[in-house]
Amino acid sequence: MEKIGFGLIGCGFIGMLHGEIIASLENGYLAAVADSSSDRRKEAAARWGCTGYETYQEMLKDPAVQAIAVCLPSGLHSQAARDAAQAGRHVICEKPIDISVERAAEMVQVCRNCGVELSVIMQHRFDRPVMLLKKTVDEGRLGKLLWGASRTIWYRDDRYFSNPWRGTWKYDGGGALINQSIHYIDLLLYIFGKPESVSGKCRKLLHEQIETEDVGIGTVEFENGCLGTIEGTTAAYPGLYAELAVFAEKGTVIIRNDELLFYQFQDGKDPAFEELLNPQKANSLHQDAGVDPASHRRQYEDFVTAVREKRKPVVTGEDALMSLKLIKGIYESSQQGKEVRL
Ligand SMILES: NC(=O)c1ccc[n+]([C@@H]2O[C@H](COP(=O)([O-])OP(=O)(O)OC[C@H]3O[C@@H](n4cnc5c(N)ncnc54)[C@H](O)[C@@H]3O)[C@@H](O)[C@H]2O)c1
Repeated sequence: MEKIGFGLIGCGFIGMLHGEIIASLENGYLAAVADSSSDRRKEAAARWGCTGYETYQEMLKDPAVQAIAVCLPSGLHSQAARDAAQAGRHVICEKPIDISVERAAEMVQVCRNCGVELSVIMQHRFDRPVMLLKKTVDEGRLGKLLWGASRTIWYRDDRYFSNPWRGTWKYDGGGALINQSIHYIDLLLYIFGKPESVSGKCRKLLHEQIETEDVGIGTVEFENGCLGTIEGTTAAYPGLYAELAVFAEKGTVIIRNDELLFYQFQDGKDPAFEELLNPQKANSLHQDAGVDPASHRRQYEDFVTAVREKRKPVVTGEDALMSLKLIKGIYESSQQGKEVRL
């Protein structure tokens, strides 16, 4: 089978990491890049020896481009994804799927109608402790799940927010919950399933220069009767960790900073968990916005296989729509002062 030709849209902070990964895929290659900034476009095209386009619409006419990677500011995701799907291209899109539930739902529908694959980056599903936890939960070893806690206690400084689309309602769609906490909120949904209702409170407590929340708290009830709590911030100096804690009838698992911090099962030790246990790394402070490419790479490998085998990717458009709906539900609950049914 031939390698899949990717077109990268948006060569900014995360786009350059996507470019690096795509260029090194066994079954994919970077065919073209698009960015409205000529400096970024030229730098990316030169780095990977591919064509650079000013607009993604031009890039979509390039027959070498079979799939696109959307790395634009969040509020521009669905438009680019829909245009690509309608041009018959598969889509892998950065999180969040979009900032509007209506537009995101349409994006999922258009990709389905056009018969193209859609996956949204939620790279932490591919962290080794998360993969092991998911398998263990699915096998029933934890017994009845009770509740889960998703906490993203980060600090972002003025330099981070000097990128003009961040912390705006128009392009970021919200603040600490939709941009930063979404990763571990997605993990909560990955383990506990479909949320039924949510209530929350969001506030801008520190960062005067942004429009959106820098602290958000939510409580969730899932369709299966389990409960969940969400805490997310970009305002707590020095920035501690992102954490998922799963509390269940026959055990507890805590993943912190993408590492296994703690596990204990009623039926004893587990060699696979023992091997991953790394409290020292889990407890080291998370203080910058850097992204480890290993899990992104695993998600790309899954996406390429999904395209080739015509099967669903691990992270579907529907999954990403669910995390967006939940976060938007917290915003709505905070504004209206009441619980929101999802
Ligand atoms: N998965 C992760 O860990 C992770 C990390 C960071 C960012 N992200 C997501 O990636 C997306 C991009 O974030 P970023 O930090 O890379 O932003 P960025 O501002 O660094 O990059 C955005 C790029 O898009 C280009 N651009 C803007 N509008 C364009 C248009 N209409 N046509 C073509 N190019 C255009 C800009 O010139 C810029 O190069 C966001 O949705 C963000 O949430 C994900």
